[in-house]
Amino acid sequence: MSEQRSTSPRDVFRAPKGTHDILPPGSHRFAAFVDTFTARARGFGYGLAVTPLFEHLEVFLRVGESTDVVTKEMYQFTDKGDRRLALRPEGTASIVRAFVEHRPTEPWKVFYSAPNFRYERPQKGRYRQHWQVGAEVIGAPDPDLDVEIIDLAAGFFASLGLTRVRLKLNSMGDAQSRGAYVGRLQEYLAPHVRALGDDFGRMLTENPLRILDSKNPAVIDVIERAPQLPEHLSAEASAHFEQVQAGLNALGIPFELEPRLVRGFDYYTGTTFEFAAESLDAAQDAIGGGGRYDSLAAEMGGPDVSGIGFGIGIERALFACDAEAVFPADPAPLDVFVVDLRIDTTGPEAAVLLHDLRLEDLTVEKAYGGRSEKAQWKLAARHGARFTVVLESGASELTVRERSTGEEHKVGRDLVVGWLYERGSGSRP
Ligand code: HAM
Repeated sequence: MSEQRSTSPRDVFRAPKGTHDILPPGSHRFAAFVDTFTARARGFGYGLAVTPLFEHLEVFLRVGESTDVVTKEMYQFTDKGDRRLALRPEGTASIVRAFVEHRPTEPWKVFYSAPNFRYERPQKGRYRQHWQVGAEVIGAPDPDLDVEIIDLAAGFFASLGLTRVRLKLNSMGDAQSRGAYVGRLQEYLAPHVRALGDDFGRMLTENPLRILDSKNPAVIDVIERAPQLPEHLSAEASAHFEQVQAGLNALGIPFELEPRLVRGFDYYTGTTFEFAAESLDAAQDAIGGGGRYDSLAAEMGGPDVSGIGFGIGIERALFACDAEAVFPADPAPLDVFVVDLRIDTTGPEAAVLLHDLRLEDLTVEKAYGGRSEKAQWKLAARHGARFTVVLESGASELTVRERSTGEEHKVGRDLVVGWLYERGSGSRP
């Protein structure tokens, strides 16, 4: 049994290493990010899919038994009923499992927003729990879908205001061309094992394509001269890839062919792509990535249908927004702040006024806990609401102060909600 590592008493009431809280005001931006993605995905005809945070271990083993995400980083456990389960390390396997289980009409188009868990070495932009928005289409190998899914992601980055994002594109080929290429690559790399060490040798047997991804300078030198994957595509895979490129060109989506882009998971076949933010450090500049997978559904006992999708790392994409100073974090200012100057402030008048204004979809706030007049005005100023309404004892009318003009208006209680609604929601920035 492995030795249990205890957390120091000082740390037990802190978020576990590699995780973080998402709280106001930053959470407004997080929510706006997800809302923007949701609106775009819906506009493309995708429906929301919410799957369990954990699945039977076997679901994720399909991601690749030789990939680090599965072999080293998975949060797996046995539950009290002796089931072998794992927290979701990525979104695609769960979506394909749901497809196989429910057999919806094809092509099935879904999007998601969900946390993923990987036991990584934490650093900025690399977490043990990270969030992704993503989309998948299952049921057709049509290259138009490759173009559509890339358009969905690329246009989303543009809608955030990001301009320094590079789209890298490659094709892994179909099973047949990929198998032939792996053989060629192993042949080419084998003579270098002695110089490059045991780890290299192990990778060469277990997952040779991952070597193309290596950041080790000694290995980079060798792979620069390696045979290239796109040169080994079958005629069919090659034609498919050509159509995808023609579609992207027609849509005016710039891309760069990256023959050594292999991505992390075993399930990829055909088109693969990654979005790199030029504003971020190269080690964590991938803000999204995806590709086609031809056999995942069949491997889970489903029909032999192809799928394609992508995942976008929310934290990283927001770092890219920071670096480009776009997609600002400011929550919309309040419409109304209610200052309660009644001597007996225990009555519900202020609460009723807030309730009535909220029924009209106005954003409203007040001070709680019987604060002094001065404290209330201070809080009102901090909120910067567009209107401040003053409730006074015995007054038949309320005073409404308009921030933009500094004007004061006297408005009857019966009329104030309509008055604010007209000026408030109608003129919202
Ligand atoms: P992935 O490349 O592993 O792909 O993750 C997608 C994105 O999630 C990455 O580009 C990155 O922005 C972010 N990400 C990944 N790991 C971390 C981490 N530890 N900390 C912070 N951000 C992270 C997938 O997960 C595939 N399921 C994508 C896909 C969908 N392929 C087909 N369909």
